[in-house]
Amino acid sequence: MDFFIRPVQAGDGKGINELRRMPGVFENILGIPSERIDYNEKYLANLDQNTHEFVAVSKNEAGEEKIIGVAGLTVYANHRLRHSAGLGIMVHKDYQNQGVGSELLKALLDLADNWLMLVRVELTVFTDNERAIHLYEKFGFEKEGVKRLAAIRNGKYDDVLMMARLKTYGISNTAN
Ligand SMILES: CC(C)(COP(=O)(O)OP(=O)(O)OC[C@H]1O[C@@H](n2cnc3c(N)ncnc32)[C@H](O)[C@@H]1OP(=O)(O)O)[C@@H](O)C(=O)NCCC(=O)NCCS
Repeated sequence: MDFFIRPVQAGDGKGINELRRMPGVFENILGIPSERIDYNEKYLANLDQNTHEFVAVSKNEAGEEKIIGVAGLTVYANHRLRHSAGLGIMVHKDYQNQGVGSELLKALLDLADNWLMLVRVELTVFTDNERAIHLYEKFGFEKEGVKRLAAIRNGKYDDVLMMARLKTYGISNTAN
């Protein structure tokens, strides 16, 4: 399948909204079916330089772009947390399990490792989201613990797993 990855841009709000409300996606990303396009457009318009967001895009025969995946990394603004970032990712239901998520994660982690030199990238994932957990482990994330009853999903309070990927660049953890 042909697709490419680029940073988000103005006008992507509609495609992102479609993904964020899509059955097969929204249940696992803390999305909500009532999310509005204008919310997504405003979110894009207000992104600051601590948030890095990529989309995976396929083109139809007419050359029209379709957003098939989104992934973002938010570097924490607090001075004492700025070596850390939170990560989120989603792929269109019809394009899952075809390598799109892997390419999006590769793009974000290249940024994290080589251009931001982050030490810690963290995320949360529902404990039964086996595909996502597999993907994260493939890219070096490790399980850190479970937050019990942390998020609502389909009429229940469910547990989420905290995962993180550490990279220390050879820096030791001593205080002086
Ligand atoms: C999770 C998600 C982002 C992964 O993206 P994707 O494009 O489907 O992932 P890829 O095709 O790149 O890779 C999927 C991997 O999981 C594996 N996999 C698929 N189903 C699996 C399952 N039930 N259990 C374990 N591994 C599974 C595949 O074999 C593949 O691994 P491999 O590369 O080692 O062969 C995507 O499926 C998605 O958006 N799901 C809904 C939203 C979501 O869960 N987002 C994450 C919230 S934390």
